[in-house]
Amino acid sequence: MGLGPWGRNLARNFDQLAELAWLCDVDDERRSEAAAAHPSAKLTARFDDLLEDDSVQAVVVATPVPTHHELARRALEAGKHLFVEKPPAMRGAEMEELCELAEERGRVLMPGHLLLYHPGVQKLKEIVDSGELGDVLYVYGNRQNLGTFRTNENALWSLGVHDLSVVLHLLGEEPSEVRAHGNAFLNRGVEDVVFCYLRFPSGKMAHLHLSWLDPHKIRRITVVGDDRMAVFDDMERERKITVYDNWRTRTGDVYSPNVDTTEPLRLECRHFLSLVAGEGDPHKAARDALPVVRVLDQLQASLETVPA
Ligand SMILES: NC(=O)c1ccc[n+]([C@@H]2O[C@H](COP(=O)([O-])OP(=O)(O)OC[C@H]3O[C@@H](n4cnc5c(N)ncnc54)[C@H](O)[C@@H]3O)[C@@H](O)[C@H]2O)c1
Repeated sequence: MGLGPWGRNLARNFDQLAELAWLCDVDDERRSEAAAAHPSAKLTARFDDLLEDDSVQAVVVATPVPTHHELARRALEAGKHLFVEKPPAMRGAEMEELCELAEERGRVLMPGHLLLYHPGVQKLKEIVDSGELGDVLYVYGNRQNLGTFRTNENALWSLGVHDLSVVLHLLGEEPSEVRAHGNAFLNRGVEDVVFCYLRFPSGKMAHLHLSWLDPHKIRRITVVGDDRMAVFDDMERERKITVYDNWRTRTGDVYSPNVDTTEPLRLECRHFLSLVAGEGDPHKAARDALPVVRVLDQLQASLETVPA
């Protein structure tokens, strides 16, 4: 439900992998656009139609971020398994409530942290965990482009959630200090450009540059270790990962390991369906997403208090 550009991508995948029973959007035009691609699905503007249908096992929510928590709560209370776009909530406490609800009801709650299913990010995690980089010193993410100018979620919640999910996944710890600076240039109150600084108990640090008001299209995560450095660059077609060898002697080579080219969204949707089918830990993805929401919440508070 929610048939914007992203909701339609999800509908395409779930229609190919499972039985797509309903298409739901409050907007008539969006509904009829999606209906043309999925003629056998029933159409509605009422979320309750999905929740009241006992033959529906699972619901997918791809509406704007501020609506996620309420819709997610209703879906879980109705006993549905749930895939909800990132982030499922905008407050740490609300995310905890959703996790508890899913566990209480024995339902899957899977947040749409797409990058965690990206074979390039999985390779990067493998490289970090193998110790090949030595000890990680710092990580930084760049997620910049020109447009889409969103009006109901700022660059932190729309873009930063991706990089933050990866940074926390790579480092496996939660920051003890966070700060965010940003500014709303295009729409009052909606920051288009945000810079985040995070410091971790181990002494590692991370930085995120998030912007949809930028001449460059960059989708990159850089990890610097005390032996080697690695870059995940999603704008690269072939070389998604590059490892820079032995920077201390400045004599090293550069290499790019092979990375599977399956569409990450396809892998993510398959994973959700396998959890619904009872394979794997149904609550892990939601529990892993808790620190992401908590840190976003803290960064938002910092954004509101620190003068730009
Ligand atoms: N994982 C990713 O890589 C990725 C990429 C893009 C977007 N997203 C996320 O997906 C979500 C949707 O993105 P989009 O670009 O398609 O947004 P969008 O705003 O274009 O579309 C959202 C749709 O939801 C509908 N909607 C809103 N409230 C509703 C309700 N209560 N009931 C039914 N329909 C409702 C709107 O009418 C609209 O058609 C956002 O949360 C966004 O952050 C994720």
